[in-house]
Amino acid sequence: MNLILLGAPGAGKGTQAKFIVEKYGIPQISTGDMLREAVAKGTELGKKAKEFMSQGKLVPDEIVIGIVKERLRQKDCEGGFILDGFPRTIAQAEALDRIMAEMGRKIDAVINISVPEEEIVRRIVNRRICRKCGAIYHLIYDPPKRPGICDKCGGELYQRDDDREEVVRQRFAVYRKSTQPLIDYYRKRGVLYEVDGTKDIVSVKSEILSILEKLKG
Ligand code: AP5
Ligand code: MG
Ligand code: ZN
Repeated sequence: MNLILLGAPGAGKGTQAKFIVEKYGIPQISTGDMLREAVAKGTELGKKAKEFMSQGKLVPDEIVIGIVKERLRQKDCEGGFILDGFPRTIAQAEALDRIMAEMGRKIDAVINISVPEEEIVRRIVNRRICRKCGAIYHLIYDPPKRPGICDKCGGELYQRDDDREEVVRQRFAVYRKSTQPLIDYYRKRGVLYEVDGTKDIVSVKSEILSILEKLKG
């Protein structure tokens, strides 16, 4: 299955991607995670990406498209993949169409997780992430058993640099302008599935997994 998870910042793409990975064993390709890794390592790419990310702006299309193109060619993507946070612009979606065509593949489903702005802010400012394994927590909705420590691996929990309220508002504005048009783009292709992202984590999970089960047929 070749999947795309679409949704605003904080809609739950990363949270839900991890459930799909668990169930189907296909890799999660999160451009945000890949870019943050490059920033943490201080690579050339990381240096370029950092200034955009810290301001809540999109990293230029050509950079992100290049990263995804390379990643999709890796062996672990042969049995399918979950794109999380890509595409985010019409130009990226068109580039993805070309990449898929070159590989003789297609996108099977685009799952749009919708959540309104006020809930987004509540979610993001209380998010914590494990530095070691990337597990995602929420201080209120999905807290770790011991404060500041990952349940899964004992790693340290941290708050993302761009998760301050003013940056979150900026990210949401960018989402509305550049990414929301993708909903129509994929609806017209008949591959769009809508999920109500305001429900709790487990309900959203069952809704998504039931869509995927039907898809598998
Ligand atoms: P990226 O890392 O992709 O961030 P994002 O899209 O803003 O999305 P988030 O990761 O913030 O949210 P999420 O939907 O994964 O939510 P999560 O599951 O964590 O991108 C970061 C930056 O990188 C961008 O701003 C840009 O600069 C750059 N970038 C990345 N991709 C790019 C691209 N393609 N082009 C250009 N630039 C790019 O959940 C959020 C919180 O809510 C968590 O605390 C979680 O526990 C909680 N939660 C989740 N679901 C629920 C629920 N149902 N109920 C209650 N709480 C919930
Ligand atoms: Mg994410
Ligand atoms: Zn961990």
